[in-house]
Amino acid sequence: MADPSDAGQPDRYPAPAVHDAAVPHPAVTPPEAAPTMPAAPAEAPATAATADTDVGRRRFFRQFAGELFQGAATVVGAAQALQRASAEAAGAILDPASLGLSPAPVVEPPPAPTGFRTPFRESPGLLHLVDQRLLPDQLVEVDIRSASEAAHAIRSMIVRGAPAIGQVAAIGLALSAQRVRDGRPYARRATLRGAATALVNSRPTAVSVRWAVDRLMARYEAVGDLSDDGGAIADAMREEADTIVFETTEDHGRLAEFGRVALTFPPDRPLQILTHCNTGPLACGQFGTALGIVQAAHHAQQDVHVWVDETRPYLQGARLTTWELAQAGVPHTLIPDVAAGHLMARGEVDVVIVGADRIAANGDTANKVGTYTLAVLAERHEIPFFVAAPINTVDLDTPDGAVIPIEERDADEVLAIRGVNIAPRDTEVRNPTFDVTPAALITAIVTDEGVLRAPYDEALALAAGRREVRRSASRPFGDWGSPATPATTAAASPTAPSPAAPASPPAPDAMAAPGGPGTPASTAREAS
Ligand code: MRU
Repeated sequence: MADPSDAGQPDRYPAPAVHDAAVPHPAVTPPEAAPTMPAAPAEAPATAATADTDVGRRRFFRQFAGELFQGAATVVGAAQALQRASAEAAGAILDPASLGLSPAPVVEPPPAPTGFRTPFRESPGLLHLVDQRLLPDQLVEVDIRSASEAAHAIRSMIVRGAPAIGQVAAIGLALSAQRVRDGRPYARRATLRGAATALVNSRPTAVSVRWAVDRLMARYEAVGDLSDDGGAIADAMREEADTIVFETTEDHGRLAEFGRVALTFPPDRPLQILTHCNTGPLACGQFGTALGIVQAAHHAQQDVHVWVDETRPYLQGARLTTWELAQAGVPHTLIPDVAAGHLMARGEVDVVIVGADRIAANGDTANKVGTYTLAVLAERHEIPFFVAAPINTVDLDTPDGAVIPIEERDADEVLAIRGVNIAPRDTEVRNPTFDVTPAALITAIVTDEGVLRAPYDEALALAAGRREVRRSASRPFGDWGSPATPATTAAASPTAPSPAAPASPPAPDAMAAPGGPGTPASTAREAS
């Protein structure tokens, strides 16, 4: 296993890791100490819930849910609706009481689904993050002003989930570029390179952070790393961050629809989907990957039921996935992680769908620890095992899973749950937060470029090439002449969709057989 201390890429942006605040800046802005995080609701920032915003919150969720689910009928429509809903309405905060999170009288009939929430929104000079550590009990936002604050928020899990942290890293870096736009070139360079390094090292397994930071730094360097024109640098980096958010929304809409079309639904009962960790809007920004597929199916009025792994030790499944599915009105049941094998053995799982933090060139996939266990169990019970991830999760520079850096986190996450000890404090702990599922155990990888099957090295390289063609053709702010990357050097597939054309979902593809609970081995296990 890789040494976690070597996990990041400290030499990628060679400069001392200086804090933004160390840079002389004529337009004085607040010092960039690590953000003050709310320890309790009483210390929540000013954007926390107030009685006055309750009406706005309810209106937001009605509007958001309506636009989201109507738009999700088509891939492009989904992306556009999501963006519109996020941009126009995300300023409101959900009233947790309306979800039944606090002790409340039973409401009959059950409240209509309210939709779900994006994990970040912006106002001038500020990025507001939902503090995911406090969900589902409290819905509180934390304000971020710079890359260093963004890195802190990512490291401390205020925001988590591979696509979400990539977008937050990009916006944080753009905020820092804006803060140093009037600074001196050498100081600006030290600030931006130091910030980039801090971000890349904040969660080393998720390649999306490196991918996003590289894109912004490439824009910076294209203007000139010692250019006097700090305004041009800030504008270019801001534009790239906005482009990343725009593309992510579209990519996840495409992925969700590709995945939905590939599912095979039993005629007489719900499709039983098992998922791990949290892969919905909180993890992704707008729509979701594995959970995006679930929600697309639900919106298309296809019957699904989700087994939600609680996802020890951080409980992303118990705290976040259930919260999102409840808001979306998707039937679901929370299970202890260790119950998955039992349910599979009884034929109560049709398909496993999980996300990914990094996919190596050969298809080996790093995802939340416990994913590998599920894949082994799925193979044992001949249940299709699907990874749902956008193409930017694919790291063609990483040949296989053995060299994916695996983050190891603090012992406290294992020793205690929400401050309550569950083991003696001095117990030795090992807390690897991801594991690697070998490509051979993966039935298919659902991406924004379609449903990929083994041999993955070829399929992933071709899909990355197609993604690059689509990206250059659809840049919302025009092309700036991005340099070739390993992904761009992969030949575009002759069957690549026209970049200008909306995504056309693939032909239905057996993700789960209709046999249903108790049907032994009827689920088609392909491609591995
Ligand atoms: O540690 P986390 O909560 O950031 O881990 C998240 C996951 O493992 C997700 O499955 C992964 O990021 C894919 S999210 C679409």
